[in-house]
Amino acid sequence: MEILRYDIAILGSGIGGFTSAIHASHHSGSKLRIAVISKLHAMRSHSVSAEGGISGVLYHGKGDSEDLHAYDTVKGSDYLADQNAVELLVKNAPKEIKFFEHIGVPWNRGDDATIRQRAFGGMSIPRTVFAADKTGFFMMRALYDYTLQLKNVDIFHENFATAIIMNKGRAAGIFMIDLATSEMKLIEASSIIIATGGFAKVYGFTTTSHSTTGDGIALAYKAGLSLKDMEFVQFHPTGLIPSGILITEAARGEGGYLRNSDGRRFMEDYAKSHMELAPRDIISRARMTEIAKGKGVLHGESGLEHVWLDLRHLDKAKIDERLPMIKDITIKMLGIDPSKEQIPVRPVAHFTMGGINTDINGHAMLNGKKHADGIWAVGECGCVSVHGANRLGSNSLSQCAVWGRIVGIEAAKYAVSARKADKKALHMQAEEEELRIGELLDRKTGSDPYKIRKELNSVMDSNVYVYRKTSELKRAQAAVARLRKECESIVVNDKGSVFNTNLRDALEICNLVELAGVVVDGAIRRKESRGAHAMVEYPKRNDKEWMKHTIAVKKGKGISISYSPVKITKWQPEERKY
Ligand code: FUM
Repeated sequence: MEILRYDIAILGSGIGGFTSAIHASHHSGSKLRIAVISKLHAMRSHSVSAEGGISGVLYHGKGDSEDLHAYDTVKGSDYLADQNAVELLVKNAPKEIKFFEHIGVPWNRGDDATIRQRAFGGMSIPRTVFAADKTGFFMMRALYDYTLQLKNVDIFHENFATAIIMNKGRAAGIFMIDLATSEMKLIEASSIIIATGGFAKVYGFTTTSHSTTGDGIALAYKAGLSLKDMEFVQFHPTGLIPSGILITEAARGEGGYLRNSDGRRFMEDYAKSHMELAPRDIISRARMTEIAKGKGVLHGESGLEHVWLDLRHLDKAKIDERLPMIKDITIKMLGIDPSKEQIPVRPVAHFTMGGINTDINGHAMLNGKKHADGIWAVGECGCVSVHGANRLGSNSLSQCAVWGRIVGIEAAKYAVSARKADKKALHMQAEEEELRIGELLDRKTGSDPYKIRKELNSVMDSNVYVYRKTSELKRAQAAVARLRKECESIVVNDKGSVFNTNLRDALEICNLVELAGVVVDGAIRRKESRGAHAMVEYPKRNDKEWMKHTIAVKKGKGISISYSPVKITKWQPEERKY
């Protein structure tokens, strides 16, 4: 095992990870040694797939304000967002959009050279800044190029972390496998930032890349950190049939319509004032209701029912300027030119609102009020409670940018004066992990990871989708418990040491199974409908009993659940009308 020493280890290399690396480096005057660890080549991180844009109030003269952005976000969250966190988001998002401008992101601009903003769901006014429909790619490119110039930051591409090691309740290090060689490595670090993204890959029909397996969340959970609001999974209304590829909400922001099998703009029946730009939870439910009413269209090849996204009335030049990738995708995947034909779409697993429980500074929590010293979480893997039960589109990139800076600075401050871990204990823990991986590789027979993934995806797609029923959730719970057991005897048939993707897949799949268990457990207990959690038996939001966060902690092989209050500053809960 190779042992490397850094001050800060950042697990994950998307927008949250790189932003925090840059700000930690700046804050320390380039003095602290920082490692960014990626299981991929860092530029393949899922953040490159972000399409539609990043939200923030840039121009006050046009009727927008931070308070309005906050109100939209809180209402969109179905009043589960912590309002102090939302206020921090909206206050800092404009500054971060300018930061990205300075490091080279080519935001689209109008004829008067001002940065353009497009409409997004649940927002009262167009406030989503964008770089065509490849916003994530341009942000990642700028961050990556910038980071390469920082002499105190090393990027470990294609290294897969298998454990976060804590010492007396404090961060101590990360254990990882170098995928190119299978060499085991321990990175000692007193500050750890987890930035590994979400876990929508528990579903088969998802917009997210194969790598979105929630590894950082699962490792944190196994290390004793608490998770928050895991039952809230966002279904994006426009997943392309049959692949699930994201058709950005910007397609509707630029004027696209949704139509049922009769050709009718059905959102008129569900959200008369916002129509196709209602929040995602509302549109996804409307969509499934239309399909249940027999107003869906059957896709022969996949057997999936869908509705239509209609862009035919949009100016062709507008599609080429603002939605070039969508045109490219529909032509390449389905032979559909969106100027001439409608696009088949259906709600698709897209974003996981829950994640590692953090305080307002992204500092990870053990249980109750105790912090995990030296550990922060940023981006989709962290739950700072800014999205509540339903995220508004384009608020996630702002979240990565805003908390990327905050956690980078906090981790740098902490690393300067942190007490050193007990080396002997740390090395013993790392040796135990090395042994565990060795035993897994030595196993000759056992459960097939790919069968486990197939079953997990099918169970989640069928039982934990847009509308949820207790009986179906219980079915999912039993299946996930069985798969969890199978994970204990999983077998890796590839015994090679060069890019052993079989080993990586097995570990990822068991991470997903672990997290699916927490999603389903939280969902069964929450006896109300709020945001993305729509229970058929409890169709109404119940603020009296359920306006609270679900906190999950691993207890042996079980899950211990408690609840914590939602922070309200200015906006009292009201009925959501759009
Ligand atoms: O539709 C989209 O472009 C997705 C954006 C988001 O999830 O924020």
